[in-house]
Amino acid sequence: MIDEYGVHSAGSSALAGNTKYSLRLEETISAHLGVQHTLLYPTGWAAGYGVIKGLVRPGDHVVMDGLAHACLQEGANSATGNVHLHGHLNVDSVRRHLRRIREKEPRAAILVVTESLFSMDSDTPDLKALQELSHEYGATLLVDVAHDLGAMGPTGTGFIGEQGMLGKIDLVMGSFSKTFASNGGFVACNSVAVKQYLKFYGCSATFSNALSPVQAATVTKAFEIVRSDKGQRLRATLMERIEQLRGALTAEGLQFMGDPSPIVPVRVGDEALARLVSRRLPALEVIANLVEYPAVAKGDARLRVQMMPTHTAEHVHTLAARLRKAIDAAQIEHVRHRAAVSEVAPAGAAVTAAVA
Ligand SMILES: Cc1ncc(COP(=O)(O)O)c(C=O)c1O
Repeated sequence: MIDEYGVHSAGSSALAGNTKYSLRLEETISAHLGVQHTLLYPTGWAAGYGVIKGLVRPGDHVVMDGLAHACLQEGANSATGNVHLHGHLNVDSVRRHLRRIREKEPRAAILVVTESLFSMDSDTPDLKALQELSHEYGATLLVDVAHDLGAMGPTGTGFIGEQGMLGKIDLVMGSFSKTFASNGGFVACNSVAVKQYLKFYGCSATFSNALSPVQAATVTKAFEIVRSDKGQRLRATLMERIEQLRGALTAEGLQFMGDPSPIVPVRVGDEALARLVSRRLPALEVIANLVEYPAVAKGDARLRVQMMPTHTAEHVHTLAARLRKAIDAAQIEHVRHRAAVSEVAPAGAAVTAAVA
């Protein structure tokens, strides 16, 4: 393949950037999601940003989950001043926004934006309810499937498949950077006009070099695995490990959030404490992302653990024990630190020192 095409796409998909590998990948994704058309993007970020910026006009409205990914928020805010954040997963809140917009602007275009698995809280909206509600108010629904596609749901179709919504969501966008082991992203839909419009007028596809043939072939192979018996086994093992980890965390007296998914957010709370915990993890040979404000609410910092089917039951129990150890040690350090700071500094300075 490299002999045939080299290692670079050398053009956007609107120009000479497509190869038979990228076209095959587009077909693979369309078939996987039960839709007619797919457009590839060089990254998932470019897909999320580009689909909104490409389709939404300044006079249009975007109604978006308050926890939607930065690429979706940036796309919305650069497309229009009319961005309405709705309560997380809250269908009634979406309805209230749609009703209010429609009362004032019966003909405005409205895009409702959500994710099928939110990575900060590991939870999922009712996609059927959101799609029906969007259509009731003449709006279009966009769902970001970055976190669950491939890793969850029947044949790896994620929560769209799990909720019986394959082929029924207006616009689906995703990233290859989780299950699919590559840079890249996509937008899938049933409208050839939307696909072509985004390809030629959606900034982040039109003016950016396409996925390389190597990346396109890698992702196609990953889809092959996702859809195979091996993929089924990998997902079953993954879910087993996720449940084991949640059990092991409970046994250690640690609190995790959300529904079972490859993301297990372990709640720490206080930002200063969470940073002290995070600092101890490399020495314990644990990799977990520290997530704190503004990605999540103030005082609700957490460690985001990401599970893979290659983790063993032993890994899981060792991880829970090491997290316990890190949190216990950090709590002692945190208390000492605060006591030391309050002895030597005025109250205002204590806050700064504790979070430094
Ligand atoms: C929900 C979600 N959407 C989009 C993206 C962007 O994807 P990429 O990393 O491929 O640019 C990410 C992060 O990686 C994400 O978590």
